[in-house]
Amino acid sequence: MSAFSASDFNSKRYSASRPSYPSEFYTIIDEYHDGKRELLVDVGCGPGTATLQMAKELKPFDQIIGSDLSATMIETAKAIRQESPSVYKNVSFEISPSDDFDFLGADSVDKQKVDMITAVECAHWFDFDKFQCSVYANLRKDGTIAIWGYADPIFPNYPEFDELMIEVPYGKETLGPYWEQPGRSRLRNMLKDATLDPERFHHIQVSYFHAKDIRDAAKLHQYTEKPLLIRKEITLVEFAQYVRTWSAYHQWKQDPKNKDKQDVADWFVEESLKKRPELSVTTKIEVVWNTFYKLGKRI
Ligand SMILES: C[S@@+](CC[C@H](N)C(=O)[O-])C[C@H]1O[C@@H](n2cnc3c(N)ncnc32)[C@H](O)[C@@H]1O
Repeated sequence: MSAFSASDFNSKRYSASRPSYPSEFYTIIDEYHDGKRELLVDVGCGPGTATLQMAKELKPFDQIIGSDLSATMIETAKAIRQESPSVYKNVSFEISPSDDFDFLGADSVDKQKVDMITAVECAHWFDFDKFQCSVYANLRKDGTIAIWGYADPIFPNYPEFDELMIEVPYGKETLGPYWEQPGRSRLRNMLKDATLDPERFHHIQVSYFHAKDIRDAAKLHQYTEKPLLIRKEITLVEFAQYVRTWSAYHQWKQDPKNKDKQDVADWFVEESLKKRPELSVTTKIEVVWNTFYKLGKRI
């Protein structure tokens, strides 16, 4: 996935403008996980969004390692960690592809030493079968694999923005052509094509949450698994900053043919305000994402 690895990718803005994950979700993971908590590896950790949260929100692990292919992301993760070294004293970061655990050292790699492996908002970029082979080689028996992610947010109280929320990311004249594929389509499809292998993992749990269901209490009651609910109060300008963290936005900016065009994130703000002129750029409104998670325990 090249955009996140580009040296000019703004990983600090990514860290500031992407959603984090709710405490209730970490409780789901805590309740799911059995046994010891010596080592957690968070692959595709980016600027440490989930890695650093897990250090605070999960029941404690002795050691947490975040790994990512992108040197820029790892540099930002290390810098954020350094702001509170005592809080994150058990956290470290490594540049590494998702299916490579060599950073564990020769005595540990592929020897089933890891208690939990997480892949957050990144597994859609992976060769999933290769990834789950590596997870299987490195997780201890009954250790947890937890994969989750989000996409395609809506503003539940502003259905008139729904079309715009598709037009900005997927329109032919906007960011649609700039996503790296098949990764984006896989995320949009909430990774339904990537199944945890039942010969490698047991007690597999899968949950999909459709943000539009938030508008319909009856639908919300139909969920059998507790969903991952990511909701945030945000201004339209903050949402535009979130749009600027998308890999497709980075690629759109790089394309010389867009040099003289209006910034696509600013266009979103302008179009939203045309639809609801009573809003201002400082009004906070709720945004909710489609989400999914997949949990398994190594056989
Ligand atoms: C959208 S960011 C997610 C970051 C973070 N986990 C979060 O929750 O926000 C996706 C990350 O996956 C990383 N990535 C993509 N493909 C990868 C691969 N094959 N191996 C390791 N990291 C990868 C990218 O560099 C990027 O930092």
